[in-house]
Amino acid sequence: MTVEAMMAKARVLKGRVQNLIIKFKKRMNWFDISRNLDTSDCVDREFIFNEADSPNVKYMGRYVPTDFLQIKDSLSQLIAFDKSVLEHTFVDFGCGKGRVLIMAERMGFKKLIGVEFSKKLYDICLRNLNKVNSKAAQVVCGDAVEYRLSGDTKTFYFCNPFEYCLFEQILNNIRGFLKTARQDGYIVYIDTRNFGRLDPDEYELLFKYDGPGTPFHIYKVLL
Ligand SMILES: C[S@@+](CC[C@H](N)C(=O)[O-])C[C@H]1O[C@@H](n2cnc3c(N)ncnc32)[C@H](O)[C@@H]1O
Repeated sequence: MTVEAMMAKARVLKGRVQNLIIKFKKRMNWFDISRNLDTSDCVDREFIFNEADSPNVKYMGRYVPTDFLQIKDSLSQLIAFDKSVLEHTFVDFGCGKGRVLIMAERMGFKKLIGVEFSKKLYDICLRNLNKVNSKAAQVVCGDAVEYRLSGDTKTFYFCNPFEYCLFEQILNNIRGFLKTARQDGYIVYIDTRNFGRLDPDEYELLFKYDGPGTPFHIYKVLL
C-alpha cells in the first residue's frame, strides 16, 4: 500500500473515531456528567403546570433544553455580528435548568439573567449555577411577561417557551425598553414551535438557520 493510501485510510479512521466520540458524548449528556449538572432531562408540562404560580401556565410547553450545538452556533453568529453583546446583559426568557446561561457565560457573556416561573426548575437552575461556580448569571423566579427589563440588556433569548400571544407581549416590552434606553437589541429564538419569521418592518433578520434539527433566527430590533 502506498503512503498516500495509508494516509487516506488513517484520515477515514480518524473521522469515524471522532464521530463515535461525538455520538457517545451526546448520548451520555457529557456536558452534564462531566460537571455533575442536571440540565438534560426533560420535564413534562403537567409537572410545571401544577407548581408554577402564574395564569400563563396554560401557554407554556414542557422543559426541553436547547441543544448544545444550537446554543453554540446561534450565539457565535450573534457575537460575530456584534461583539459588544458580550459586555451587555443577556436574558433567557424561560431559562429552565440554566443550560443556556451556563454555556453563554462560557462563551464570554459577562452578565446573564434567567427568568423561570417553575420554582422547582428555578431551584435546579440555582444548583447548576452554583456547581459551575457561575460569577455572571442570576436567576429570577417569576413570569417572563412580568419581568421588568432594566439596565443594559442587549440579547433576548427564547427557546420558544410559550405560545405566540405571550411571545408577542414580551417582544412589545422589549421594543419599548430599547426605545427608552436608546440602544440596540437582538432577539435570538429557537423556533421549535414554527412561529416563522418576525415582521421585517420591525425586526431585521440577521441570520436564519434552516438545516437539520430546529431552525433558529437572529434579529436586530428596528426602532
Ligand atoms: C423549552 S424550555 C427552554 C429552557 C432553556 N431556555 C433552554 O433553552 O435550555 C422553556 C422553559 O420556559 C419556562 N416557561 C414557560 N412559560 C414561562 C413563563 N410565562 N414565564 C417564565 N418561564 C416560563 C418553562 O417552565 C421551561 O422551563
